[in-house]
Amino acid sequence: MDFTGKKIIVTGGASGIGKAITEGVVRGKGHAIIVDLNMEAAAKIREHLGENNVSCYKVNLADNQQIREVFSQILTDFGQVHGLVNNAGVVSTVPFEEVTQEEWDKVVAINLTSVYVAISILYPSMKANKYGRIVNVASVAAKIGGGLLGTSAYAASKAGVIGLTKAVAREGASFGVACNGVCPSYTLTPMTSIMSDEKKERVLNSIPMHRGADPSEIANVVLFYLSDLSSFATGEISDVDGGVTMDG
Ligand SMILES: NC(=O)c1ccc[n+]([C@@H]2O[C@H](COP(=O)([O-])OP(=O)(O)OC[C@H]3O[C@@H](n4cnc5c(N)ncnc54)[C@H](O)[C@@H]3O)[C@@H](O)[C@H]2O)c1
Repeated sequence: MDFTGKKIIVTGGASGIGKAITEGVVRGKGHAIIVDLNMEAAAKIREHLGENNVSCYKVNLADNQQIREVFSQILTDFGQVHGLVNNAGVVSTVPFEEVTQEEWDKVVAINLTSVYVAISILYPSMKANKYGRIVNVASVAAKIGGGLLGTSAYAASKAGVIGLTKAVAREGASFGVACNGVCPSYTLTPMTSIMSDEKKERVLNSIPMHRGADPSEIANVVLFYLSDLSSFATGEISDVDGGVTMDG
C-alpha cells in the first residue's frame, strides 16, 4: 500500500497491533507518528525503521488536556496530518459486579474519550484540507458483549468507538474525511500474552479459525482503510476475528 508523502498518527504505535501498523505505514513510504506512553519502545521502533520515517510523541491518553496539547503540537510540527489510527487501548477482564467506578472511568477514558478528543483536534484541519482517513480499532467484544477477552467496561467502551466511528463518517463524508473501524478478536500481542492456558484454550475454542491473529493480520485491514484503496468506504466496521462474529 502506498503512503508516499502521507503523515499518519498511530496511537499505541509502540506495541502489538499498533507497532505492525507503524511498520506498514513506513513500508508504504509514509511517515508514522507514534503517540504512546512507552517512549522507550517507541524509540526502538524509530531506530529500527529510520529516524526520517518515524516521529514519537509521549501522551497519556487518559489525560484529555495532554491529548489536546500534544495533538495541536503535532499539527503545528507537520502542517498536515493525513491519517489517524486510534489504536491504543487497555483491557478490563473482571466480572460486571467487580467493576469499580475507577476501573470504568479509566477504561472509558483511554478506550473511548481519548478517541473523541484526538479526532476533535484533527477533524477541522482534515476538513479544511478535504482529506482525512481515520481508522479506529474497536474489538469483537463490542459486538458480542465481551466474553472472549474483555468484559463489560471494555465491551461498552469499544461499542462507543463503533458509534463514534459511524457518526464521524456520516458528518465527514462530504468533506473528504473517511472514518472506519476494525474489530479484532484474539491477537498475539503483549496485551494477551498474560492469559492463562485455560483461558487461551477457551478463547481458541470460540474462534472458528482456532488460532490467534498475528498483529500484521489486523494491521493489514487498518492499512487498507488508511490507504486510498478504500476511497469509497466510510462508516464501515470490519471484523478481523477469525470468523467469530460473521454479522451482516
Ligand atoms: N490483542 C488483542 O487480542 C485485541 C483484541 C481486540 C482488540 N484489541 C485492541 O487493539 C488495540 C491494540 O491492542 P494490542 O493488543 O496491540 O495492545 P498492546 O498492549 O500490545 O499495546 C497497546 C499500546 O497502547 C499504549 N497505551 C496503553 N495505554 C495508554 C495510554 N494511557 N496512553 C498512551 N498509550 C497507551 C501502550 O503503551 C502500548 O504501546 C487496543 O485498542 C485493543 O483493545 C486487541
